[in-house]
Amino acid sequence: MKIDPKRMTMGFVGTGTITEAVVTGLGKTAFCDTPIVLSPRSASVAGRLAAANRNVSIALGNQDVLDRSDLVFMAVRPQIAEEVIRSLRFRPDHHVISFVAATPIDQLLAWIDQPVHHLSLAIPLPFVADLQGATAIYPPDEVSHTLFSALGTAIQVEDKQEFELLAVASCLMATYFGMLDATSSWLQSQGLSRPAGDAYLRQLFSGLAHAARLKPVASFDELIGEHSTKGGLNEQVLEDFREFGGTAALQKALDRILARIRL
Ligand SMILES: NC(=O)c1ccc[n+]([C@@H]2O[C@H](COP(=O)([O-])OP(=O)(O)OC[C@H]3O[C@@H](n4cnc5c(N)ncnc54)[C@H](OP(=O)(O)O)[C@@H]3O)[C@@H](O)[C@H]2O)c1
Repeated sequence: MKIDPKRMTMGFVGTGTITEAVVTGLGKTAFCDTPIVLSPRSASVAGRLAAANRNVSIALGNQDVLDRSDLVFMAVRPQIAEEVIRSLRFRPDHHVISFVAATPIDQLLAWIDQPVHHLSLAIPLPFVADLQGATAIYPPDEVSHTLFSALGTAIQVEDKQEFELLAVASCLMATYFGMLDATSSWLQSQGLSRPAGDAYLRQLFSGLAHAARLKPVASFDELIGEHSTKGGLNEQVLEDFREFGGTAALQKALDRILARIRL
């Protein structure tokens, strides 16, 4: 039988940044009337979401979220996940989706310590609030796929290692802005006002993201070719970036994240 997530009450344990993004995004989709129950922490985020969406209510505590929900999202930080999950009583019919980073299925099942109908992992990113970006899902889960397709693009993988690699790629968000910040600081040190530099960089990178989206099957190497002239300035910057250790530093950082995720 096909499960319809619109008919399920959704519950979130942990009402922080990513829950706010998911609930905000859902409010812009066909799920805008689906009942949603939030755990009370953070009170400010839960209060804001409940005030803005008539289908959203705040539970008395984490167990109350589970008792009132069919579809449960675990959205607390990894450091407290064991303590939170072990303290909860799940029902066999609960459908559980975990956002908790670097915490594999076996680990979650051991903490849940009772049979649940379905358990999968997902990595929603902040832009789901605007129905943008991709959510990695493992193992494939029809309910999760339906939801995150409404919130942008859902990418399901059958293989744990593939999911771990997508998780590593998702860790580049801060580095992206770090690159903008370093460039902006350099521009300022050379005499350009910060607002002018920042406005220019925002548009430059937004244009590049748009160019990549317009050519979904072009390799990044082809895009490099299209955005640099032989012997030109863009080519020189990329060569210097590689020569001075930029690529090596990036790949070393990715190696270290993969090792942390695989622990
Ligand atoms: N942010 C992202 O882009 C992103 C993307 C994918 C996955 N994730 C994962 O999603 C999870 C949540 O991330 P986040 O960025 O939303 O973190 P966050 O903003 O720190 O939110 C976590 C929330 O959990 C609440 N909390 C603390 N102790 C709790 C408890 N005992 N019971 C219930 N709630 C409790 C916190 O409330 P207080 O503020 O009151 O302490 C906070 O609101 C993490 O495992 C993260 O790795 C995050």
